[in-house]
Amino acid sequence: MSENILLEINDLWVTYWRRSLLGLKGKPFHAVKGANLSIRPGETLGLVGESGSGKSSIANTVLGLVPATSGSIRFGDVELTSMRTHYPPAVRNQIQAVFQDPYSSLNPSMTVEDIVTEPLRVHTGMNRSERRTRAVELLELVSLSEEHLGRHPHQFSGGQRQRIAIASALALEPKLIVLDEPVSALDVSTQNQIINLLYERRDALGIAYLLIAHDLALVHHISDRIAVMYLGHIVEEGPSDRVYKAPAHPYTKALLDAVPLLDPEAQRRRRAARKSAPAIDAPRVSTTGCPYQNRCPSVMPRCQDAMPPAYPVNGGGTASCFLFDGGAVRHAPAIGETA
Ligand SMILES: Nc1ncnc2c1ncn2[C@@H]1O[C@H](COP(=O)(O)OP(=O)(O)OP(=O)(O)O)[C@@H](O)[C@H]1O
Ligand SMILES: [Mg+2]
Repeated sequence: MSENILLEINDLWVTYWRRSLLGLKGKPFHAVKGANLSIRPGETLGLVGESGSGKSSIANTVLGLVPATSGSIRFGDVELTSMRTHYPPAVRNQIQAVFQDPYSSLNPSMTVEDIVTEPLRVHTGMNRSERRTRAVELLELVSLSEEHLGRHPHQFSGGQRQRIAIASALALEPKLIVLDEPVSALDVSTQNQIINLLYERRDALGIAYLLIAHDLALVHHISDRIAVMYLGHIVEEGPSDRVYKAPAHPYTKALLDAVPLLDPEAQRRRRAARKSAPAIDAPRVSTTGCPYQNRCPSVMPRCQDAMPPAYPVNGGGTASCFLFDGGAVRHAPAIGETA
């Protein structure tokens, strides 16, 4: 592995066993199918895709909350999949998480001081007064203050709770924070504040983020690279600007078409183009070939026969799409864009 990679995921499969009515092991369901991803130190990788595409399954496998079925996840020199879900403290300290729902992720019976200092109590030899001093520093990093230490989560707004969760995630100065939809439960202005806060902390502390979100526009704003998931596959990956401004995979284009445009004229053109576009089927899981073939406006006969490998794309990154076979890069304009 290159020295300059912090997290490297290779051919990761995550399988859940859906129980039958009799409680027997049931049928396997592959939520992640051969995912490859890497994150450099200090880098933000945005992971996007529609609900059920497998984003949280990747996040939870990295965090050791769900076991990998096969494949590899290397964090520095450590192979995480070989530890199943029991990470030693040295790894546990380095990978932290912030989840979507600030209402259920913080223990309601704990004070802010307890929440923020818990990782310090478990993983460091700091005494109570050292931990309190550090808690005040951490609260200041997230624009809260010492007066908040004695309060309980219910006394805070959703945005403030997410700040507390971020302060707790920062406590051990991790190298990686997994952010699974950290702002989805918040209103738009609070979302922007939290995203700006994450942005500042990352630049000041050199932390890497794996940032999961539905909103491609938001992910583009903060990420260095973006990976796009569809039905368990990473279908496209590349530098954030390239993926956002020149999406390669037809699915990424469709995702971007779902982002509202600020320019009313562009939005009108897009609507007109959508009306004249052929109707596309709802997702169906194909047993062979490209997972997107049933919805793809550019589908070709070969898409039914084999899963496209990751082909390089102009401007950086890859797309798992036969349109890019042999370097034949075809950038059809996104709906609503002028050609
Ligand atoms: N514990 C589980 N047992 C069985 N199936 C599961 C389990 N967890 C997730 N799944 C299924 O795996 C698929 C991927 O789920 P996952 O939560 O990873 O998706 P996601 O991309 O994070 O979706 P969302 O955007 O809704 O959070 C879904 O079809 C989901 O129903
Ligand atoms: Mg999820």
